[in-house]
This record gives sequence, C-alpha cells and structure tokens, in this order.
Amino acid sequence: MGWILLFLEWLVDWARGTYWYLFGRRSGLCKGTISPLGPLVVDQNKKDRLLRKGTHTKYAVVGHPQTMDALFLHHSKRGVYYPKGGASEIPYHVIQVLEKHGGRVLVNAPVSSILADGKQSAYGVTVKAGGKDVEVLAPVTISNAGVFTTFKKLLPPEFQANPEVQGYLHTLKPGKGFFQVFAGFNATMEELGISSTNIRLYKSNNMDEMMEEYFDSDKDIAPDNIPMMYVSFPSAKDPTSCTRFPGQSRMVIHTMVNPKWFEQWHNVSEPERGEEYEKYKRRFANHLFDWACVHFPKLKEKLAMLHAVTPINMHGLRATYGSMLSAEHSLERYQPLNIAMTRCNTPVKNLYLSGQDVFSGGYSGALHGGLLCASTVMDHCLYIDLLLQQKKLKRKVVKKVE
Ligand SMILES: *[C@@H]1O[C@H](CO)[C@@H](O)[C@H](O)[C@H]1NC(C)=O
Ligand SMILES: *[C@@H]1O[C@H](CO)[C@@H](O)[C@H](O)[C@H]1NC(C)=O
Repeated sequence: MGWILLFLEWLVDWARGTYWYLFGRRSGLCKGTISPLGPLVVDQNKKDRLLRKGTHTKYAVVGHPQTMDALFLHHSKRGVYYPKGGASEIPYHVIQVLEKHGGRVLVNAPVSSILADGKQSAYGVTVKAGGKDVEVLAPVTISNAGVFTTFKKLLPPEFQANPEVQGYLHTLKPGKGFFQVFAGFNATMEELGISSTNIRLYKSNNMDEMMEEYFDSDKDIAPDNIPMMYVSFPSAKDPTSCTRFPGQSRMVIHTMVNPKWFEQWHNVSEPERGEEYEKYKRRFANHLFDWACVHFPKLKEKLAMLHAVTPINMHGLRATYGSMLSAEHSLERYQPLNIAMTRCNTPVKNLYLSGQDVFSGGYSGALHGGLLCASTVMDHCLYIDLLLQQKKLKRKVVKKVE
C-alpha cells in the first residue's frame, strides 16, 4: 500500500510541475495555491472553520453531506462556469460529435436490462422503444446509471450474489434523496434583484446534527423543518437568456429529503397520486419558496409558475433512492481503499461504469468519471491527450490575437 501512495504523491508532484511548464501558472494541485476569495463566503475564518469541520474525521464521523459541502465550497471558491445557452447545450454538442464518428443516440428508449451470459460477461442492453423490447448488442457496455441501479436493477439477480459484486456494492452507500423546486418569473433579473451567485442557506452551523434530526423527523412535520437549501438563478447565469426569453427569469432550489416520506406513492403512477400527494409536495415547495423570498423579497409578486420534483419522480430518471448525486459523499467513500475499489472496470467482463460514482457527484464529477471510463476502455490515459489539446488550443488563440 505504502509504495502506491508514494507513487501517487510523486505523480501529483510531476503533474504539478508539468502543468506549470505547459501553462505557465500553477495548477489547482499546488499546495498553498494563492487564490482570491470567492463570492460565496466572505468571512475567511468561518470558511476555514467549515472546511476543517468538513474534512476532519473527528467531526465528520457519520460523513454527512457536510463533507460534500466542504468540497463544494473549496471547488467553487474561485467562481464556476455555466454553459452559454443553458445546460441543454451540453448534450446538443456531445451528440453531434458522437454522430460524426458513427455513433447513434436513442432518446425515449430507457434501458430495461443489461444483457449478460453465464460466464459473467456483458454483451449489450435491452431498451424499451415503441412499447417493444429491443436488444442492442455490443462488445463493450458502459453504464452511467450508478452502481446501485446498474447492479441491483439492470443486471440479472444472480450477478448480485457474486462476492466480487457484493464487495463492489459495499464500498458505496446510497445518497440522500433530493427535492427540487423550479420557479419562473415574469420579470428581469434587475427587476427581481437577483444575480448569478449560487446561494447556500443553512439553519445551523452544526450540519451533521441538523441533517440527522431532519431525516429522523416525522413525515408530517418534515416540510416545516427543512434545514438547508441551495438556490440559484440559471437565467441570470446565461447571457443568452435575456434574448431567448425576454422579460423572464428562472430559479432552481435544491434540498434533501428522506425518500421514506414519499414512499406511499412510490408504486403509484404520477396521474394517480392524487390530491394528498400534491398537497404534501406543495408544503415543501412553498416552504422553500418562502425561505428564498426572505432573501429576495421581490420574487413573490412576480411568480408565474412553481413546479416541484420529489425523489420518487426525479424526472423519470428512476434514480435509486431518489438521489441526484448518486452514491453518498461521505468521508468513508473517499478513504483510499474505497476509492481504489470503485473502478470503471467491474467484476462483470466487458461492463464498465462511468459517471458520478467512479469519481464524485455533480457535473464535473460525472465528466471526470467519463474521462476515466474512456481511458479504461481504450487503455490509454486521455488526460494527457486533453492537456496536449489544451496547449494546442491556447497556441491557436495566442496566434489569433497576434
Ligand atoms: C413497489 O413495488 C416493488 C415491486 O413490485 C416492491 O418490491 C416494493 O416493495 C414496492 N414499494 C412500496 C413502497 O410499496
Ligand atoms: C407570464 O408571462 C407569460 C408569457 O408572456 C404569460 O403567458 C403568463 O400568463 C404570465 N403570467 C403571469 C402570472 O403574469
């Protein structure tokens, strides 16, 4: 084990040096990188305390989202990017590249199972298309549906009994359920007094305790006791929004919920969930919206629509346990041994995992998951290609400027 760590340390040192050499500035891998204070936390002491708390085992024994919060805070302190034209630009451009190279992309064709033979080897997937099961055969099958959905729902049950698969499953725990509110306003960002800054609100500094209490709380009182939320205004981040949707703005709120509170409606189809479900969902949504209005009072009178998404409908993603970030981001997950165990190669031959579970949650996490997975399948480190490509692009930009 020791020599692996030494090797990794050496690798990081080498990468740092290379980055400096290639780009003429220090990479994020540099210890003690000097960076300006971001817009998220103004109080340096408070931020340091929070980071210490989130990454210190003494505090984060249960490994709650607090760990993720600390990572997130660190990750976004120098500001973050948002795609011009909105998130749909990402698949729009990705699909063009895939098709240019002979790929085909199917939509409205959910994968119902992964095809695998008696020799524990995957050979494709079954998709539901036009009400029929269609088999798509492939020498390499990649799943980005997460460890739990892949092994517990998509693979035949006998695969779960494989001790190697069990070991794979035990390294990760299911993440927390998510609840989202999407709101639309008939007003510009200036009229609403909003900006592109992401806002994270907490009712207590002791996040572990706060979240535990909330998750243990009774279903009936939970909507009135939401202890944290994350608010952002996608329209304020996208410079094309004011021409595409003049006079309109949008807000997204995320919070976490215990999927148990919504369990009784789990096996009922959306239109049949009835009044009680709508009312319960509304209680969460209204509470979150009112909390946002405390900080942005002009939102209330301009509200044009409010839509809530619970962990059981998560946009039809059927995310196991209603978690948006897939597996739980606990300190345990980031123990070196556990990181080493959650690889893109799986115990099932020709089946690879990509996405959030092989790296970390969120868009950048999934992006790195994809890079790692492609590197594994191709047996070639694509990070080096990426560095060289970036160097090439930079040279082009410099030439243009000259
Ligand atoms: C929903 O249905 C599945 C399979 O039919 C069953 O395993 C599960 O326990 C059910 N869940 C609830 C909450 O009734
Ligand atoms: C908001 O604007 C849309 C589009 O112009 C319109 O259909 C809707 O009725 C408006 N809603 C409110 C609450 O003003």
